[in-house]
Amino acid sequence: MIRKYTIGHPIATESVVVPVPAGEGPLPYFSLDEAEKSLSLGLGDNELVYGLGETVRGMNKRGWEYISNNTDEPHHQEDRRSLYASQNFILIFGEGRVKGFYIDTPGRVSFDIGYSHGDELKIRFAELDADIYVLEGENPRSLVREFRKITGRSYIPPRWAFGFGQSRWSYMNADEVRAVADGYEKAGIPLDMIYLDIDYMDHYKDFTLNEEAFPDFEAFVSEMKQRHIRLIPIIDAGVKIEEGYEVYEEGLEKGYFVTKEDGSDFVAAVWPGWVRFPDFLNADARRWFGDKYRLLLDKGIEGFWNDMNEPAIFFSQDRLNAVFEALSDYKGKNLDLAKYNELMGMIWGLGNSPEDYRSFWHNMNGTRVRHDRVHNIYGYNMTRAAGEAFERLSPDRRILMFSRSSYIGMHRSGGVWTGDNCSWWSHILLNLQQMPALNMCGFLYCGGDTGGFNCDATEDLVMRWTQLSIFTPLFRNHAAMNTRRQELYQFDRIADLKKFVELRYALIPYIYSEFMKAALGDDMYFVPLAFAYPEDERAVRTEDQILAGESIMIAPVYTQNARGRYVYLPEDMKLIRFRAADDYDEELLEKGDHYVKAELNELLVFLLRGHVLPLAKPASCVEEIDYASLTYISYDSDPGQYELYTDDGETRI
Ligand code: GLC
Repeated sequence: MIRKYTIGHPIATESVVVPVPAGEGPLPYFSLDEAEKSLSLGLGDNELVYGLGETVRGMNKRGWEYISNNTDEPHHQEDRRSLYASQNFILIFGEGRVKGFYIDTPGRVSFDIGYSHGDELKIRFAELDADIYVLEGENPRSLVREFRKITGRSYIPPRWAFGFGQSRWSYMNADEVRAVADGYEKAGIPLDMIYLDIDYMDHYKDFTLNEEAFPDFEAFVSEMKQRHIRLIPIIDAGVKIEEGYEVYEEGLEKGYFVTKEDGSDFVAAVWPGWVRFPDFLNADARRWFGDKYRLLLDKGIEGFWNDMNEPAIFFSQDRLNAVFEALSDYKGKNLDLAKYNELMGMIWGLGNSPEDYRSFWHNMNGTRVRHDRVHNIYGYNMTRAAGEAFERLSPDRRILMFSRSSYIGMHRSGGVWTGDNCSWWSHILLNLQQMPALNMCGFLYCGGDTGGFNCDATEDLVMRWTQLSIFTPLFRNHAAMNTRRQELYQFDRIADLKKFVELRYALIPYIYSEFMKAALGDDMYFVPLAFAYPEDERAVRTEDQILAGESIMIAPVYTQNARGRYVYLPEDMKLIRFRAADDYDEELLEKGDHYVKAELNELLVFLLRGHVLPLAKPASCVEEIDYASLTYISYDSDPGQYELYTDDGETRI
């Protein structure tokens, strides 16, 4: 059962698309403190709190404060309160009935989940304006389904987007891209996508091309496509200020950029230096920007990633001027600790400053709204602009789209990647833990930067991380500039890495089926054990194993130099120890605790009783997967019992 309660005068986010009956009387469960602009609710000792999508820490969110305030945050350590997304849906379960709350408000809101007081959940609002959806039921997973029904169907990418993709900031020219394709081809490792980061553009101008580095782009796109590789360019939120640059001049002329309160230009800096931000909250501006994707679609491009759309701001013109002015006070002075801190604070405070977010305004279809009040739906609306445009420009065929910043509702237009993680072992675990939380909020097409974005990766880390990403719908290896190269063919154990990626391709009939069932049934693809076995106390507290689809549990190794790990089996399972898609052992394991060995070149999959895992023959790209020759691993089940989902992988549904 779902009921909607409205507090104050919330700005519509359009994340909920199905009418929900208004609840009678005051908001249940919570006590409201108008002066403090907060809601609080007591937490029972055994209650767990799940949700909030892409955040730091474990799956059970108890014991920390999370702030929905979309931030370009490259440090995903456990002390961070905000990352790139705001996904304000939580479930409380473990004692009696299951309760769910969706706090729909586009501004800043914090979730103090037992941080100030262990037995209290406190939600603090910047503005006490929100639609609050209250859900009640018996079972966490069915409650998620109910929630997902009101927010609309999840984005469905083309099937080729389930292949493996290689990325780096940046492949600087066509020859570098060709070298990556050659590297994979020579190693015999399947590859479906190569990502183009910001340097494919002319001076970081959206929808332009660096003609010198990528001459005859259209021919290059088609050359790569003949090799079964799709190029996926990045699009950034900020539009470079430059006379004669069509996107800038048009946006200016039509008044589609955000402005300061007095209507003057809000100018900030991102990659190209000075930029203007399109007003994605304005329907006309959205349509205009969305139509620009056509410039690349017309050249044969079929997928994009939207970035820096929190929006990330390096500094604004006004703040930079103010800081330069203030700096003169420090010149020639003896800077003691306090002065030094002041100085550094000023410099570091230039980026993503709350003051800047308060100093520009949107035109939400006739109504002027200050940015900070709608900050968390900016990236959502950029990706919505793209999604709506793709429906017009490519009405029959699906286009790949995923975004860094998000809010619930954006899951209808695209997937997400989890941003700038690090080549750290702990980030393999974080990647795993973020996946079910994202699925709860509707984001099914998701994954992390495999191998880690920042910092230098090691071979064993890339191998273990790849073993996790084999199961994430978005499977992309991406790394930052100045980090060690981490294309799979750069390592010594190419043969093992090749087998893993081949295994991914062998599993695509299963992964795609399970993804599609989740998308069409408003369900989850990655399911926490706590949802699958809510009566099992051990399972409920297990946070490093998850179900991937209906048939299997995965329990990746995420510590260096380990040759295995402990797993908890909530029921009897069949362990499949894969060394390759056609080289594996099977072993029956009883419910309970086990130490299972896993050499670096072994990937463990736990098949549930009564279930089946279909496997294709290794293929070099998604198009070549042979659905006619599937084999099946089963555990007390007939292969015929498996419901395989097939379609042409391209037509919109
Ligand atoms: C941001 C993105 C990263 C990208 C970089 C350059 O940091 O998160 O993925 O490589 O910008 O575009």
